[in-house]
Amino acid sequence: MCGIIGYIGKRQAAPILLQGLRRLEYRGYDSSGMAISDHSTLAMTKCVGKIENLAEKMKTSHLPGSVGIAHTRWATHGGVTELNAHPHTGNKGKLVLVHNGIIENYRELKDQLGPEHHFTSETDSEVLAHLIEREFDLQEQKNCEGLRKAVGCGLSHVKGTYGIVVMHEDVPDCLITARMGSPIVVGVGKDENYIASDATPILAYTRDVLFLDDGEIAEVKENNVRLFTLKDEIVSKKVEEIHWNDEQAEKQGFPHFMLKEIHDQPTVFEDAIRGRFNMAEGTAVLGGLNMTEQQMRDINRVIFIACGTASYAGMVGKYAFERLAGIPAEVDVASEFRYRDPIIDEKTLVFVMSQSGETADTLAALREAKRKGAFVRGIVNVIGSTISRETDGGTYIHAGAELAVASTKAYTNMVTVALLYALQFGRARRVSIATGQRMLNAFLEIPEKMNWILSQKDSIKEIAEKYKDYKNFLFLGRGINYPVALEGSLKLKEISYIHAEAYPGGEMKHGPLALISEDFPTFAIMPQNQLYEKMRSNIEEIRARKGKVILIATQGDERAKELAEDVIYVPAMKELLEPLLNTIPLQLFSYYVAVALKRDVDRPRNLAKSVTVE
Ligand code: F6R
Repeated sequence: MCGIIGYIGKRQAAPILLQGLRRLEYRGYDSSGMAISDHSTLAMTKCVGKIENLAEKMKTSHLPGSVGIAHTRWATHGGVTELNAHPHTGNKGKLVLVHNGIIENYRELKDQLGPEHHFTSETDSEVLAHLIEREFDLQEQKNCEGLRKAVGCGLSHVKGTYGIVVMHEDVPDCLITARMGSPIVVGVGKDENYIASDATPILAYTRDVLFLDDGEIAEVKENNVRLFTLKDEIVSKKVEEIHWNDEQAEKQGFPHFMLKEIHDQPTVFEDAIRGRFNMAEGTAVLGGLNMTEQQMRDINRVIFIACGTASYAGMVGKYAFERLAGIPAEVDVASEFRYRDPIIDEKTLVFVMSQSGETADTLAALREAKRKGAFVRGIVNVIGSTISRETDGGTYIHAGAELAVASTKAYTNMVTVALLYALQFGRARRVSIATGQRMLNAFLEIPEKMNWILSQKDSIKEIAEKYKDYKNFLFLGRGINYPVALEGSLKLKEISYIHAEAYPGGEMKHGPLALISEDFPTFAIMPQNQLYEKMRSNIEEIRARKGKVILIATQGDERAKELAEDVIYVPAMKELLEPLLNTIPLQLFSYYVAVALKRDVDRPRNLAKSVTVE
């Protein structure tokens, strides 16, 4: 939520920062701004709306200089105005700062600063600039070290979360960055360095990064980076290499990131399974699990914790764990889990699932589960993210950079990894080698079958255009396809703003059937699996009430046509793996509805990609 980029080096900072903001736009897009130093004065520009508005504005207000910071905002405190956009300035206008996170005690801090401080915005962030600028004035050393100490002193008064970058007019040879609860990555280049809220905007320049931990400050100069704790103790840390490539952050000819990411699925699915099969033993090998065979056998409960789309991937994991491993499994939405008193002990295995690895509620739930003594493992996409580092093991899903706000390929790869874990536990407990091998062979068919579904996109587009003006939708699924229905309805809601609900097929007559009319179409998932006949009856009930039906059915199922206005066929697949295929038509349907309605597909209103606030 909100994106930060900073640059210090020999090149002009403005184009680098602007490009960085474009890459970060998925994190927030209600306003943006940048401040640049030419080593004598600071200049700043801000703008409401998309990054392109800022780019337009900068054509007339060129900011020269080779040091700078920039920010793209997703409003929390204060409306969407130019004054509330970052960077924010201290009382004297000499210090500028960009901030992600929430300062909980900003009102008290403002009162403590006194009446001589004039605040121009309604944000919580501005108080940090005032506080740190004042601390700098109290420092003897008017250099980088003094600025770093001022940041440390200022932050010692703060309650809340932050990832900040600070620049001072009188200290143009360094940027200071600090982190508490909001991620900060330092990109290490040659005679230039970068700071960002995630690695995406710096991948074009360097793959060498330092991930700051909570309570750390970095002093970033053109050719040097030094790390400290907030108490000013030196921290030594290894530079890590990021394997994602910059291409993944490009649209590659697709009109939107979302469509590109839907098409990435066959390839990134292969990345998720590569090296993780032991065909001879009929099992998956996820090394990051860090559990002995005995511990795997002793587990008596599995909980998947996640938010949104990630929680629907977790729900697929629940069905698979119960079926294959015979372990009671459940899914908990992180924001609920953390405020209940969940029953957890040292025989509970908790999987924390997150694309970004930074979701505030998921992180808090992780910490709670650890405190209670559970085995806590991550299923995470972003390498080096907080969740990946705070879990005691786990697996990266290798979906690559996902930049559309609506998650697609990360969902698929989370499902994949959850299924692999279910198989690994199944084999350790009760599944035969032959069953395991059949499942692994089914996995190998997935990419080709995904490609076949993607090749049907034009007919899915036609269906989407036909239904785009309906105001309500129902999504129905049963068993392992119930999470698919939930995911389909979430996708439609978030990018097309059409109301959609999802139910298990069997629930219809307990209430939701009352909604059905000619104006309330149903999207039903009815593959030829053990629940086929049950699902058919549910659809018949909808037809009897004049409800229009779009069906996802198995190739060759001619009976499906009698039941529906429109049928989207998918290849037959082993039941547990069906979500890997059946979700794709729903992603495409939502995408094409949103395009037909001229929505901002990659940046839907009110949403941000990485939800780092509660
Ligand atoms: C929906 C979507 C969200 C995220 C949720 C969790 O398309 O993207 O529902 O799934 O905010 O985010 P992560 O996976 O980053 O924890």
